[in-house]
Amino acid sequence: MTSAAFPPPLSLYVHYPWCVRKCPYCDFNSHEAKQQTPDQAYADALIADLEQALPLVWGKRVQSIFFGGGTPSLMDPDVLNDLLARIRMLLPLAVNVEITLEANPGTVEAGRFAAFKAAGINRLSLGIQSFNDTHLKALGRIHDAAEARRAVELALATVGNVNLDLMYALPQQSMDEALQDIRTAISYAPTHLSAYHLTLEPNTAFHHSPPPLPDDDTSAAMQEAIEAELAHAGYQHYETSAFAQAGRQCRHNRNYWEFGDYLGIGAGAHSKLTLPDRILRQARTKHPAAYLKGIADNTHIESERTLTIEDLGFEFMMNALRLTEGFEPALFEQRTGLPLSSIEAALAEAEAKGLLSRTAERIAPTLHGQRFLNELLQLFLE
Ligand SMILES: C[S@@+](CC[C@H](N)C(=O)[O-])C[C@H]1O[C@@H](n2cnc3c(N)ncnc32)[C@H](O)[C@@H]1O
Ligand code: SF4
Repeated sequence: MTSAAFPPPLSLYVHYPWCVRKCPYCDFNSHEAKQQTPDQAYADALIADLEQALPLVWGKRVQSIFFGGGTPSLMDPDVLNDLLARIRMLLPLAVNVEITLEANPGTVEAGRFAAFKAAGINRLSLGIQSFNDTHLKALGRIHDAAEARRAVELALATVGNVNLDLMYALPQQSMDEALQDIRTAISYAPTHLSAYHLTLEPNTAFHHSPPPLPDDDTSAAMQEAIEAELAHAGYQHYETSAFAQAGRQCRHNRNYWEFGDYLGIGAGAHSKLTLPDRILRQARTKHPAAYLKGIADNTHIESERTLTIEDLGFEFMMNALRLTEGFEPALFEQRTGLPLSSIEAALAEAEAKGLLSRTAERIAPTLHGQRFLNELLQLFLE
C-alpha cells in the first residue's frame, strides 16, 4: 500500500519520564522524582527497548533524535553520554543528525550543558514559560526569572542552537506582560521559539481548580501581538506554535508534521512506522515502574495497531495542516500510499469554506483555516 519509492525519513524519540516537581498545568507523561532517578537502569531499559524494535527500522538512517519528557536535563550526563554512544552503535545516524534535549532552567549548570554537548547534543529546548517571577510562581515552576535568563545565556553560549518554550494567556497575565515575555525572549536571538497558549488539560491540578485566566478576546489578541513581534524580529511562523530563524526549523518536529516515521522508546513513547505492507502505530507502557518491569518481561508495548485508510487521510492532514505553508500535493501519496483523490471531497469543501487554498504546488491552510484548525480538520474526519 505504501510507496516504497519514497520511504519516509526516520526520527528517534526518547522519553525521560521524571521531573523535579509536577507542574499544575502539565499532562505530559511526567512524574515527580521522589528519590534519586534510576538513570542507569532506565538507560539500560531504553537500549533493550531499541534492540527489540530494530527489525522495524532496519537499514534506515536516523535524521533526528529528540530527548523529551519529563525533564531529560535531569539525567546524569555520563549516563546520557553512554546512552547516545550505544544508540550510535545500534542505529545509523545521518551525518548532520539533529539531537535535541529538553531542559528545565531549574536543572542546569554550566558543567551539565558542556557535558550534554560533549555527549553529542547539538540543540537544546528550554522550558522557559515566562520571564516574570509572579507568573512562574503561579505556574508552579521550580525556577525564577533570573534562573531562566541564566539558562538561556548558558544554552546559547554552550550549544548555540536553542529553542525557548514560552506560554501565554497565563493566570492574570496582562497584554503588556505577555509582550514583555516575548520581547525578552527575542532579545536573546534564539534560533527557535515556541509560543503555546496555556490550555487546561484534563487530569491536571489546573483543570480541577482553574486559576483566573485572560478571556478569549484577550488571549486571541495576545496571540496576534506575539506573532507580530516575532515576524518583526525576522522569525518565520512555520507551524501553529513554532517560529524559527531562517534555516533553523526543528527537523524532528517537522518530520512529525510531514507525517514522517518515528520510533519512540521509553515510558509512554509513541511510534509511527511505515512497513512494506502497512503503517503501524505503537504506544509503550506509560508508568515508569511498569515500563521498566515491562522491558524485563517483554510486555512494554501497551498498544499496537495498523492505520486504516480512513485513519491515514485524517492523520496526515492533522499533522500537515499545522504547517503554515502546508504541503506539496505529492507528499500525501508518498506518505500514505493513497491517491490524493481519496480526500478530494473534503479538500473541495474546505476550499469552498475558505479554510484551505490549493495550487498545483501546495495545499495549505488559509489564515482563517489556521485560526479554526479544528473546524478544518473535522472535514477530513467525515
Ligand atoms: C515536556 S515540556 C518541556 C521541558 C521541560 N519539561 C520543562 O517544562 O521545562 C514541553 C512544553 O510544553 C508546554 N506545555 C506543557 N503543558 C502545557 C499546557 N497545558 N498548555 C500549553 N503548553 C504546555 C510547555 O511550554 C513546555 O515547556
Ligand atoms: S511542564 Fe515540564 S517540568 Fe513541568 S511537569 Fe511537565 S514535563 Fe515536567
